[in-house]
Parts: sequence; C-alpha cells; structure tokens
Amino acid sequence: MKRNFLTIAFSLLVVSSFGQNAQEFVNDLLSKMTLDEKIGQLNQYNGDWEATGKITPEGDKEKQIKEGHVGSMLNVMGVDKTRKLEEIALQSRLHIPLIFGKDVIHGFRTTFPIPLGEVASWDLALIEKSAHIAATEAAAYGIHWTFAPMVDIARDPRWGRVMEGAGEDTYLGCMVAKARVKGFQGEGLGHVDAVMACAKHFAAYGAAVGGRDYNSVDMSLRQLNETYLPPFKAAVDAGVATLMNSFNDINGIPATGNRYILREKLKTEWGFKGFVVSDWGSIGEMISHGYAKDGYDAALKAITAGSDMDMESRCYRDYLKQLVSDGKVPIAFIDEAVKRILLKKYELGLFSDPYRFCNEGREKQQTNNQENRMLAREIGEKSIVLLKNEPFNGKPQLPLSKQTKTIAFIGPFVKATVANHGFWAIAFPDDSLRIISQFDGIKNQLDKNSTLLYAKGCNINDNDQSGFAEAIDAAKQSDVAILSLGEGYDMSGEAKSRSNLQFPGVQEALLKAVCATGKPVILLINAGRPLIFNWASDNVPTIVYTWWLGTEAGNSIADVLFGNYNPSGKLPISFPRSEGQIPVYYNYYNTGRPAKNDDDKFYVSAYIDLQNSPKYAFGYGLSYTSFHIGNLQLSSGKLAMKGGKLNVTVDVKNSGNYDGEEVVQLYVRDLVGCVVRPVRELKGFQKIFLKKGETQTVNFCLTPDDLKFYDNDLQYINEAGDYEVFVGNSSLAELKGHFELTE
Ligand code: BGC
Repeated sequence: MKRNFLTIAFSLLVVSSFGQNAQEFVNDLLSKMTLDEKIGQLNQYNGDWEATGKITPEGDKEKQIKEGHVGSMLNVMGVDKTRKLEEIALQSRLHIPLIFGKDVIHGFRTTFPIPLGEVASWDLALIEKSAHIAATEAAAYGIHWTFAPMVDIARDPRWGRVMEGAGEDTYLGCMVAKARVKGFQGEGLGHVDAVMACAKHFAAYGAAVGGRDYNSVDMSLRQLNETYLPPFKAAVDAGVATLMNSFNDINGIPATGNRYILREKLKTEWGFKGFVVSDWGSIGEMISHGYAKDGYDAALKAITAGSDMDMESRCYRDYLKQLVSDGKVPIAFIDEAVKRILLKKYELGLFSDPYRFCNEGREKQQTNNQENRMLAREIGEKSIVLLKNEPFNGKPQLPLSKQTKTIAFIGPFVKATVANHGFWAIAFPDDSLRIISQFDGIKNQLDKNSTLLYAKGCNINDNDQSGFAEAIDAAKQSDVAILSLGEGYDMSGEAKSRSNLQFPGVQEALLKAVCATGKPVILLINAGRPLIFNWASDNVPTIVYTWWLGTEAGNSIADVLFGNYNPSGKLPISFPRSEGQIPVYYNYYNTGRPAKNDDDKFYVSAYIDLQNSPKYAFGYGLSYTSFHIGNLQLSSGKLAMKGGKLNVTVDVKNSGNYDGEEVVQLYVRDLVGCVVRPVRELKGFQKIFLKKGETQTVNFCLTPDDLKFYDNDLQYINEAGDYEVFVGNSSLAELKGHFELTE
C-alpha cells in the first residue's frame, strides 16, 4: 500500500519534471522548498555501520528523515537498509530521495591493494578499472557515493594516511586522481554501475606538521598551488562530483572554513559544479581549532566559505535557520548549496527512480564475483615492488622454483586472512574464508612433492620470543626461508600516525635469528607506508614490498615469487633511512649549499650522521630481467613557448633473461627560475612490456604546459630558459638531454 502511494507521488514528481532540463528541475523544486527543507538537504547523518568520529546524538532519526531534515546518509550497508531509509525519505513533503555515501576506498566486496600500493603499479588503466569494479560492487549494494579518491600529496610516511593516496608526486598524483575519478564515475552518473566520486581531503591534509594526523598545515600559497592543489584540479577536470574538506587548518584557517580554497579556487577559478561535504564533524571542530566561538559561528564560517554539506556535526541543522533570520547568512548561500546537492541527486537519476540502486539481484551478482577477484589478483601482482634480489650462494633467490624441496614460511602475517585487506577495507563476515592467505597462495602453487613448513615466530607487536626456536628449526630444515614481516594492517590509515617506522615488536630479532641459520632468506614486507628496515636492507639478499594486497593477496604474492608474473612495481614515495630524515622526497630544491654526494659534509646542506639520499628512491623497483635505456634523442634543442612540441625518445632494451615490464620515466629540471625550481620533476612515464632481447623506442612529447609553474604572485607561467631532461627507470635517472624554452 505504502509502495503504491510512493510510486504515485514519485510519478507525479517525474511527470512534473518532464521536458525540464536538470537546472530547471532543480530550480523548480527549490522554489517549492521551505527554509527547513532546504537546510535538511545539507545534513548528512551516519547510519549503523562503523564511525570514524564522535556520533552526535540524534533523537528519532527516522522521524527526521521523514520530515525532510536529512539530505544524505553515510555508512548504511545493504540494499534492504538503503531501500527502507529511501522509503522513509520519500514520505517527506517533497519526496526528495537520500544519497547514500560510504568509504569505498580500495574495493568493496572485492578488496584491491591499498591505494598507495596500487599506485606502485604505475598502471593507470588498471587503477581506473579497479575503481570501476569497486563502484560496480558498491552501487549494487545501494551506495551512490564513495568518499574517494584521496588525492592528498603525502611526503611524510609517519602520517598513517599515506596508504590512502598516490604518494609524494604531484604529476603522478594528478594522473591517478583522473584515473580513479573516471573509474568510479564510469560512463557517468546515472548509470547503475557508477557512483559519485569525492576528491579528498581539500586541502593539504598530507602536509600535517610532524606527520601527526589532523595536525596544522602552514605553507606558502605558492607551494599549496603548485604541489598540493593540482590533483584536486585534475579530479575536477575529470568531472568529479564532490569534494571533501580536510580536518587541518591551512595557514591558520581551517580548510572547512577556508574561503580561499573553497570559493576562490574551487568554485570560481576552477568552475566546480558539484558540492563539498565536510569531513566527519569538521564544521563543529572549528570550535576546537579556536576559529569558531560555538556551533552558530562554525555554521556561519563553513557556509560562508563554501562548504555545502555537514557530515555529522549538526551545526547546519541546529544553527543555519537562526543565521538566516539574523541576517548573517544570505539565503543565496543556502540556495546555492542545496542546488548543488539536488543537481547531483538528479544526475544520479534518483528523482526518476529512487530505488535504481536498490536491486537485490545486482547485489547478489556482485557478491564474491570471480571476475573481479581475478582483476584483484592481477593488480596485486603489479603493485608488488621488488626492492632487492641479490645473489645468495651465487644466484638470485627469485623467481623461486615451484620444485624447491622444502620452504619455511615464517612470520606473523603468513596465515593471516583479513589483515591482507589493509586499512579502509569493508569487512564482511565471510572475509576470513574468502581471502587467500599468503600461506595458501604459496601452498597452492608449490609442487605436490615439496614441503611448506610454517612457523609464526612472533606476534606483530610484543616482546614474546618464545616462537623463535620453532622458526629457527623450520628454517634449518628448509632450502629457503620466506619471512613475512611488517606493521599491522591497522597501524596505517586514519589516526594511525607513527613516530617509529621500524618493524614493531621483536620482528627484526626474528629476522636476524633466521638469517643466522645461514639459509637463504626472502623477506616480504607488509605495510601501509614506507617502513625503515636498514638492517634488512643491508643484510637480507631478497626483499619484496607487498603493501596490503587485498582479497587475492596470497595468490598475487605467489605469482610474483614463483615468477608467473615478473614484478614491475615502482615506489610512488621515497623510503627514508631514518625518521629524522623525514620528509625526504625527490623533487626538493637545491639550496645554496647542495651536497655533491652522500659523503659531502663540508658546510653543505646535509646531516653529519646520515646520507641525504633516501634508502629507496621514488620511482625505483626491480624486475627479474634487466632493462637498458639509451640513445636519448630530442627532436630539437628548442621548444617554442607558443604551441611548441618537443619529442624525447629513448631506446629501451630488455637485456636480461625474462620477459617483463618497465616503467620508463621522464623528469625535467628548470635550471634557472624567477623562483627556485626543484632539482627534477616527473613529467611523463610509460609502462611497456618487452620480451627478452626485445628493444622498443619510447617517445615522450613535451609541451610548454608541462613546464609551467607558479611564480611568487601566484601566476601560472612559462619562463624562457634552459632545461634538462632525464629519462630512466627511477627518479635517479642519469641519461640526460638539454633544451631551451624560447619566447
Ligand atoms: C575521514 C574521511 C572519511 C569520513 C567518513 C573521516 O574521519 O577523514 O576520509 O571519508 O571519515 O568515514
């Protein structure tokens, strides 16, 4: 009966919108709304799933939805629940549907590698595909909106949220931002396998002082514009539907109340047409920042700055009406925010069919979808970074033979299942059954006549060494020991900043004890960030960085160890030698006293007790084969500022013994600028596959746009002068050319 009533009410709404375009429809609807109903659209309430902040007590949530006081909800899981809440929303006077949001960060039913790990693949097509699969699965569960991608540039691995982004580089960050937005939004809002994306956290959250989560950010506007904002701009250019505020202040103004970034940059200069949601409670948190006196003041500052939707602080719900009647907030601000939100509801198709994302059949189809798992396995393989594969007893340990007689598999992660998700995964009750553990991954591929021994050795983070003896014994019985060490999956992510980035607990002691047996050791490192593991780097011949790979972790790892897939991952972030070296990143300024090399300490910019270079450089990663990159050619010595093009080519030869993929990277240095320029900046990359012995010419096309930067007046300019170009397979590329940018 109720359904019938709702269907009729809805048809009336749709019929009345017949022939109207989106803007007309939205304007028409807005003209019918009371101030209370308008403010209702700006409120987002949490559902019954996990929360990442304080939940404001609600009263009767369903009553408030029915009265039109809620525009969106987050953390409502499953078609049955979204349908039920949507039905309640449609009983409101104007029958405006809710939008359901969720943190679909690296997969939904199928978990893909953590975002930072996935970026190590440098494979934009696959990155787009995984976002699309995540969208397809989430949309099938009634979700309209993901709070992803996180596009924060992060140069500080102490910050737990480095795991959610694309790493330290702006160019790579822009490319990945585009790919992820395209993936989530697919063929466009309105398709049932597309969800709205949300570029977050706007802005500069990754530059929190000391890498401590939620902390302040103080940086020049030039740095903000040049390094931290471009991935957001790239997301906007790719059509991202929404943005989310960040928790931090920027130069003293909380991002949520920051008119410069929200109104001036985003909504005016970039022409963004979507809406901005606060981060969890971030409107109310402006009180703790000491920027707003109370909720009334916080709501005033947020809406004035351009934040459209209030996630969970209730400041909009409780104070906007008063602010309007006090004449503090022009109704135009409210109208603008409401229109932006209604427009997205329209584009999602919710006004024509509010239940289009509530389909049990699709939900079932996307539960444990085999094809999606296969893609997760492939992306997992490509995300793995081979850091070291030096000969032991005369030969590299990897790839490992499937006929190896006895392997000891040791460590606290070997038999873990759910942990392979990493942080920000959506845990389902059957996860421990469906996630392939590392042990099972190896076991399933190992020859039937071989033996796989297991010893846990120790826990992740305590002092108990009672398992060492068993681990040593297993290693002694084996031909090779694989150790799986790292930080816990819940030691990176939100509110997971660490001041110590070494292996926690007694893991390093376990590693040393196993190495002392004299057996060859292969070390797998599980982590959501760059860890510091100098002893291992200097003493263990074979090191594989596996991040957190998701549902298919065990299979992906086995594929790489056994050589079914030749690793091709490259680090998207520099790995420090010690915590004291942070931040360490490849595109630094030269200073007036640059060190000539790591040993140069004579009154130069250096540490007396540490090298300047990172332990592992941005863009670095090995393969089982080797590649030779040579014959750098520039199509000209000059590039004209107006419409010029410069082709840079290199020949890449697979000079080793395996087929494989290489990421060929191009960096540029602007030698003299009106402001100091970085020592090099990534401006292009290509991932190519070469059979052993094969050579391919790779061509990059540089244009003046690639060389633009912000001057001190915040003008985005080209400047004539000399440039160097470097091509290679990491940020240490040495092959060098030279050209001039001419007026
Ligand atoms: C996080 C956001 C997330 C939101 C909703 C916040 O604590 O900072 O990234 O989207 O919670 O879960």
